[in-house]
Amino acid sequence: MPHLPNVKFTQRQHREKEYYEKYFEQNKISGNIDFSPIDGVIHGTERRPWNSYWRTYEVPIISYRELTSKMKTEVNLLDFGCGPGDNALRFSRAGFKVTGFDICENNIESCKTLFKENNVEGHFIVSVAEELPFADESFEVVAGIDILHHVDIVKSIKEVRRVLKKGALAIFREPIEVPILDNLRNTTLVKMFIPNKPSFEKHITEDERKLNKVDLELIENFFPDITVERSLILSRLDKFVRSRKNTKASFLEKVDHTLCKYVPYYKNLGGAAVIIFRKRHDV
Ligand SMILES: C[S@@+](CC[C@H](N)C(=O)[O-])C[C@H]1O[C@@H](n2cnc3c(N)ncnc32)[C@H](O)[C@@H]1O
Repeated sequence: MPHLPNVKFTQRQHREKEYYEKYFEQNKISGNIDFSPIDGVIHGTERRPWNSYWRTYEVPIISYRELTSKMKTEVNLLDFGCGPGDNALRFSRAGFKVTGFDICENNIESCKTLFKENNVEGHFIVSVAEELPFADESFEVVAGIDILHHVDIVKSIKEVRRVLKKGALAIFREPIEVPILDNLRNTTLVKMFIPNKPSFEKHITEDERKLNKVDLELIENFFPDITVERSLILSRLDKFVRSRKNTKASFLEKVDHTLCKYVPYYKNLGGAAVIIFRKRHDV
């Protein structure tokens, strides 16, 4: 059954909403969206399976390539916690019929404006991840980028299961804990040089926390066919040695990708996860 949107916010939801309404004011997205992760896959010119963001766009495109290229078939994709709309616009360019929700009103207005400016259709609504206003089995794809680590995992995953059609795909890109590295990262000495307190400058909210092993097990309880692809090991150094404006493929990401394949346990050091699962036909 669809839920009504008049949900009473939890304290966590309230803090997240306040943060993102203000964050938006200081970090409006530019209209220049980089479509290369989509165009590369659609036209077969470039793939970057070693980059967790590119991978999150690529998997739904490859899974539904046949259907999205036939203009008459609608493939409904839910951008889960859509933010200001750049990801949603990329999915739309790939041929999906995009719906997005987010707790932040400014973000939802931004999505609507972005879609209007680009002359494409999309449906956007303010909602919390834990209680969605969509009917059961509405979507062929649920895709979320950097969102599960901001929400109540169990409630949100139950909603993902409810709104997915049988056999349909879910994919999330999330930061994930690596206990040995995160313990080091959280020592007073390291924090003195590289602070990680909540701030707008660092884009860290009070309530976000990286996913961990227990969260993955919780997701697995609902979706036993889960696959977790980890990356971001040596390529953590990119943020110190590469300019943000450099859009070329990262050498260190490629090294990580290769080492993950061939060196046992190396992938366990990965700080980013692409989590892929499908709703079974028998639920
Ligand atoms: C790190 S941002 C990611 C946004 C977007 N997916 C992107 O990649 O740009 C986290 C998003 O989660 C949203 N958010 C936080 N808590 C939420 C909740 N309980 N329900 C829905 N959205 C939430 C915020 O408003 C914010 O847009």
